[in-house]
Amino acid sequence: MSGGIAVGTGVVKDDGILVRVRGLERIYKVGDEEVHALRGIDLDIHRGEMIAIMGPSGSGKSTLMHIVGCLDSPTAGILEIDGEDVSRLGEVRLASIRNRRIGFVFQSFNLLPRLTILENVALPLMYAGVPLKARRARAKELLESVGLGDRLSHNPNQLSGGQRQRAAIARALANDPAILLADEPTGALDSLTGQAILDSVKVINARGTTVILVTHDPDVAASCHRAVRLKDGLLEGAA
Ligand SMILES: Nc1ncnc2c1ncn2[C@@H]1O[C@H](COP(=O)(O)OP(=O)(O)OP(=O)(O)O)[C@@H](O)[C@H]1O
Ligand SMILES: [Mg+2]
Repeated sequence: MSGGIAVGTGVVKDDGILVRVRGLERIYKVGDEEVHALRGIDLDIHRGEMIAIMGPSGSGKSTLMHIVGCLDSPTAGILEIDGEDVSRLGEVRLASIRNRRIGFVFQSFNLLPRLTILENVALPLMYAGVPLKARRARAKELLESVGLGDRLSHNPNQLSGGQRQRAAIARALANDPAILLADEPTGALDSLTGQAILDSVKVINARGTTVILVTHDPDVAASCHRAVRLKDGLLEGAA
C-alpha cells in the first residue's frame, strides 16, 4: 500500500504501524473466578491515526486501553509499540515507556485538587526533570492550546467539567507523547462541551499525535479516521 490508508471519514498518511496487537488476551482472577476480559484481539494502529474503540459496557475497552497504555500486561498475546515488544516487560520498563510515549485522559487519572491547573499540567514535566521556568512556560502554552489560557491559576474545582477535561488533556500532552489514550473523554459532558473537547483532540491529532479514544457516541466515532467495536472481549468483524 502506498500513500495513505483510506479509513472512515478520511485518509491518514501512512507512516507505518505504531501499535501492533496480536492474539491479545487478558484474564482477571477474582477469587476462584476468571473473567476473560479480552479473548484474542488483533489490531494495527497506524502512526497519525485517530481511532475510536466502541462496544457495550463490559466488552473490554478499558482493559484494552490499560494494556496499550502499558498500565497493565496481557495474560497472552503480543503488544508492540513502535516495533518494540512490550508485552512481557517489567514494571520499571513499562513505567519508562508510559512516561516518555503515552498520555492518558482517563477518568481515574484526576487532576490534583490542591494545585492550580498550571501546576497540574507542569507536574509530569517536573518528574521528567524540566526546570521550573521551562515547565511553567510549556504548561501555559498547552493550556492556551485547549482554550484555558485565562484559567491558569484556577484549581480544578473552580472549573467546569469540560474545562477540567481539557486541563486533563493538556496535562496528558505535557511530555509530547506519541500516543494519546482517552477513555470516554466526552462521556460526562453535554454535547457542546463534548464537541469542544473533540475539537481539541483533533487539533492534537492533526499535529501528529496518534489518538486512541473510547466512546459510546456514534458522532464522536464518526469524526475519527476509523472505529472498531469490541464485543465480549473480541473485535467485531475483525479484519
Ligand atoms: N480489575 C478487574 N478485576 C476483575 N475483573 C475486571 C477488572 N477490570 C475489569 N474487569 C472485568 O472485565 C470485563 C471488561 O471490563 P472493562 O472495564 O474493560 O469494560 P469496558 O468495555 O471498559 O466497559 P465500560 O463501557 O462499562 O467502561 C468486565 O466484565 C469487567 O467486569
Ligand atoms: Mg471502560
